[in-house]
Amino acid sequence: MPLSFTFDADLRDHHTFGVSAKAKALVEVDSVAELARSYHGPQWQNLPKLVVGEGSNLLFTEDFEGLVILNRIPGRQVTESSDAYHLRLGAGENWHQVVAWSLAQGMPGLENLALIPGTVGAAPVQNIGAYGVELCDLCEYVEYWDCVSGEVMRLDAHQCHFGYRDSIFKGELKGRAIVVAVGLKLTKAWQPVIGYGPLAKLGTDATPSAIFDAVCSLRSAKLPDPTRVGNAGSFFKNPVVPTPRFEALRQRYPTMPSYPAGPEHTKIPAGWLIDQAGLKGYRLGDAAVHTEQALVLVNKDRASGQDVTALARHVVQTVSDRYGVELEPEVRILDRDGALCW
Ligand code: EPU
Repeated sequence: MPLSFTFDADLRDHHTFGVSAKAKALVEVDSVAELARSYHGPQWQNLPKLVVGEGSNLLFTEDFEGLVILNRIPGRQVTESSDAYHLRLGAGENWHQVVAWSLAQGMPGLENLALIPGTVGAAPVQNIGAYGVELCDLCEYVEYWDCVSGEVMRLDAHQCHFGYRDSIFKGELKGRAIVVAVGLKLTKAWQPVIGYGPLAKLGTDATPSAIFDAVCSLRSAKLPDPTRVGNAGSFFKNPVVPTPRFEALRQRYPTMPSYPAGPEHTKIPAGWLIDQAGLKGYRLGDAAVHTEQALVLVNKDRASGQDVTALARHVVQTVSDRYGVELEPEVRILDRDGALCW
């Protein structure tokens, strides 16, 4: 099939922040062969390329001067072993639909990760996580297309160097690896994960679908629906600081919440820092700090990527002045070449 390119393409429907941005060209691919063909097309040789799933974790600050490739590679295969279901998922599958489908098929395990926007292919890149579960807890392998060698490679989960909202795809393999499939292992000896405060009341006999429902309603209450209000989920990562530094902060701010982060570090919720700094609901033009969860920045109407970035810088500066803690964006903020520009 010939590839169908759209020139001077409007990116509004291809990312969740709802800011206005265009790309020189855009193409949708649904196989590795199409991905390779579009990526190496001679007409794009000297232009930047950006592979996008649903664009739920990026912010365009300018028009993109290159080719956007929408990764729509499908696939949902299941094999069964004595102790687990092994799912092989195409990178272009919608994450939440996969979660709902796996539960409907009687394969629990993904329920805590319900309603996370985006595609399967984006999930390992930032090691998505919510309510006590991270993708790396379930991931068996990731397959990627190497745009330098042109080969499909498979990494076992431990080779993906998963960390908090981090992986090898943001580090060593950045700009080179395009995820094409993800393998998940859902163990048959399923156990509910209900450690996160509001889930605890479900009790240890909670069913997967009860957890799924609770997670959906928690998320819907706190996080804005990107189809209604432009946003990209948590805009910042929760900062991780050496534990003695956290203890010193807690002396001054006794209500500061925290999560353990390894033997020597502590994670502080960025949402709390932003909220306590008085920024909940703070607005700069049409960019605003979400009123229900201060970790999320929203596009109230016609904010540009530059407006959102200016707001983000104000948030970082205010939190830094008050707490001496530096926030880092979780969202990828992109310039005209698709390079990170924070
Ligand atoms: N908090 C406030 N004010 C706020 C927001 C939060 O005081 O405006 C306090 C809460 O009361 C709570 C603490 O901060 O004590 C943590 O808040 P929450 O439970 O909402 O979680 P979070 O740490 O802010 C992280 C993830 C979310 C994920 C939730 C639940 C990051 C960057 N974010 O948020 O992930 O849904 O935990 O597990 O790690 C995402 O990545 O896009 C995302 C939404």
